Amino acid sequence: MIAVLSEFNMSPVRLLLSCLLFKEALGLPGSFWHITDLHWDPSYKVSDNPALVCASSGNRPALGAGPFGDYLCDSPWRLINSSVYAMKKILPNPDFIVWTGDDTPHVPNEDLGEDAVVNMVSNLTQIITEVFPFTKVYSALGNHDYHPKNQLPGAPNYIYDQIAEMWHNWLDPQSKETFKKGGYYTEKLLNRPGFRMLVLNTNLYYDQNDATKDMVDPADQFSWLDRILTEAATNKEKVYIIGHVPPGFFEKKRNKPWFRQHFNKQFLDLIEKHHAVIIGQFFGHHHTDSFRMFYNKEGEPISAMFLSPGITPWETTLPGVVDGANNPGIRVFEYDTETLLVKDVVTYYLNLTHANAVQERWEKEYRLTESFRVPDASPASMHQILNRMASDQCYLQKYYEFNSVSYDLKDCDSDCRVDHVCAARELDFERYEQCLVKEGAASIYGGLLLVLPVAVSLVFGCWW
Ligand SMILES: *[C@@H]1O[C@H](CO)[C@@H](O)[C@H](O)[C@H]1NC(C)=O
Ligand SMILES: *[C@@H]1O[C@H](CO)[C@@H](O)[C@H](O)[C@H]1NC(C)=O
Ligand SMILES: *[C@@H]1O[C@H](CO)[C@@H](O)[C@H](O)[C@H]1NC(C)=O
Ligand SMILES: [Zn+2]
Ligand SMILES: [Zn+2]
Repeated sequence: MIAVLSEFNMSPVRLLLSCLLFKEALGLPGSFWHITDLHWDPSYKVSDNPALVCASSGNRPALGAGPFGDYLCDSPWRLINSSVYAMKKILPNPDFIVWTGDDTPHVPNEDLGEDAVVNMVSNLTQIITEVFPFTKVYSALGNHDYHPKNQLPGAPNYIYDQIAEMWHNWLDPQSKETFKKGGYYTEKLLNRPGFRMLVLNTNLYYDQNDATKDMVDPADQFSWLDRILTEAATNKEKVYIIGHVPPGFFEKKRNKPWFRQHFNKQFLDLIEKHHAVIIGQFFGHHHTDSFRMFYNKEGEPISAMFLSPGITPWETTLPGVVDGANNPGIRVFEYDTETLLVKDVVTYYLNLTHANAVQERWEKEYRLTESFRVPDASPASMHQILNRMASDQCYLQKYYEFNSVSYDLKDCDSDCRVDHVCAARELDFERYEQCLVKEGAASIYGGLLLVLPVAVSLVFGCWW
């Protein structure tokens, strides 16, 4: 392969580009992988003693441990390896890969260190590079990709420096510079004029981050973002934004935002100001499969943010979340190579119970347009899905089962409906609060919204 490439004097990037131009000429959609929250736990081992399986279970006994993991643990290497090879098997030549961070296990800081974190990022970088040697990777830092965790600074430091060097194949010289300064960067998407990728370090806005809590604009990322998006508009570019911690609220726990309030507001203001050039947003951190809507003052959908499920199955220890584990998920986005509009989203998953008991089997979980009966994954279509979730129990239940990657198949009751609908619809602190009141009232009085479709679905059944 290398020999062939050099014979025709074609760099891997040029080869990729020509594939893309080929797809474009035929009107075929482009496609890319999004993976997130791999959370490798090197301590994982199958053991007869459930207390000794993995450090990331804390003091919870890991009773379901098998070769591919346990729902109380972060990912064993076997699961990481399985995920990356599954990607290669399902879609070996994506246009690019989006990787949105969180590489290390949920263990106390004392069990890690700066070099431990850097080495884990390095092992994951290595396997992705080995399996996809010619694929461009856009890679964002997660709140666990630092030591101490969550404390990502708005200034140069050892870890940004090490990782920038480690990712030299994936970063332009200018990207390396801003990455070393603040963990963020931008590049033309696949070097194509008119298309841009923005990789953010939103860990700077995380409410657990004490290093940035008194700052107005950590690492000048907001002013940089404003400038880049203004220039993008001038140059008629279309932009994708990726990052780890999303703005807004967690859908599995009421009133749980991630950003500090003033950072949340600044982020939303920037999206509203520049939505015309922002064609897609792709984030992680939740480990769940969800999405967030952005609306203008007139209430029209102006942008959608996709939250992709994690590879780690780890059950969250966040108080108030019941049974918050998930099956490992990976996902392909299909997009229009001319407009960057997201055409479809296909999620693949490993049923961990089945993998441990019977065999390793990655399967398609669902295709968005099929399962939700929408023409594409545009903001208008995602808005339609959200409205139907809010009013139709069949839609809500389907969304809910996908939310945990087909792990939690319980009924989504009326409180659950409010949590998921309001988190997807309102990212602003005050508007989220108002949504809880409004949707809560709608659930209570008669629960008509739900009871009626449930009754109908009992008679006619949901369509799946
Ligand atoms: C990784 O997965 C590939 C493909 O299934 C397999 O051939 C290889 O042995 C695996 N390696 C490890 C270390 O599990
Ligand atoms: C992680 O990387 C180190 C250094 O390259 C290597 O020695 C080690 O075997 C890797 N671990 C795994 C599980 O791949
Ligand atoms: C996962 O596998 C287990 C064990 O084979 C099975 O009982 C369960 O129904 C499967 N889950 C899904 C969503 O298919
Ligand atoms: Zn995570
Ligand atoms: Zn995270």
